Amino acid sequence: MRKNFGAKTWLYPMPVLILGTYNADGTPNAMNAAWGGISEENEISVCVSDDHKTTENFLKTGAFTVSVATAETAVAADYVGIVSGTDTPDKIVRAGWHALKSAFVNAPLFVELPMALECEVISYDKEACRLVGKIVNVSADECVLDEKGRIDAEKLNPIVYDPVAHTYRTLGPVVAKAFSAGKALK
Ligand SMILES: Cc1cc2nc3c(=O)[nH]c(=O)nc-3n(C[C@H](O)[C@H](O)[C@H](O)COP(=O)(O)O)c2cc1C
Repeated sequence: MRKNFGAKTWLYPMPVLILGTYNADGTPNAMNAAWGGISEENEISVCVSDDHKTTENFLKTGAFTVSVATAETAVAADYVGIVSGTDTPDKIVRAGWHALKSAFVNAPLFVELPMALECEVISYDKEACRLVGKIVNVSADECVLDEKGRIDAEKLNPIVYDPVAHTYRTLGPVVAKAFSAGKALK
């Protein structure tokens, strides 16, 4: 027997995306977003409400970064998801994060968040709440790279969001090789 839950915003796993933008005075801001993902080659789509400081910011600057929240940054990642830069302009200082300017777009990277997508705004649809961004660069701190210079998921230790239990979880072990394990059934 399967149980039906009706229409829900549930999916496993959901990402913990940290959208970084600059405020009008040049100070950094960030918010947490679970409703997003890769939607085309070099393109990301995120559902962002129009009342967020982040939205005001990326509409002005035309840019944003998408960092991956990690186990080490889970508390601060949640904090930036429950407090708005509109009421708390020093949100990033309070989160304990340190901003760096992206070399590719007019948006901040955060020292404490080792991997990020650096994006230009392609479009924003207020009614659909949909931000579409062109990924112009992906950067990662060398502390999360393996000996071949690739991003190492174990070192990055990203978190995912469980929308049913409202918790953040880390990834589990590798269970199979993608584009390969299925060949056993061909
Ligand atoms: C786990 C989690 C997921 C969230 N996902 C989204 C989302 O996908 N889209 C959105 O618009 N807001 C989302 N939020 C809410 C924003 O992060 C929150 O309203 C934030 O305070 C906005 O900050 P800002 O006003 O400084 O931009 C989420 C919050 C949490 C804690």
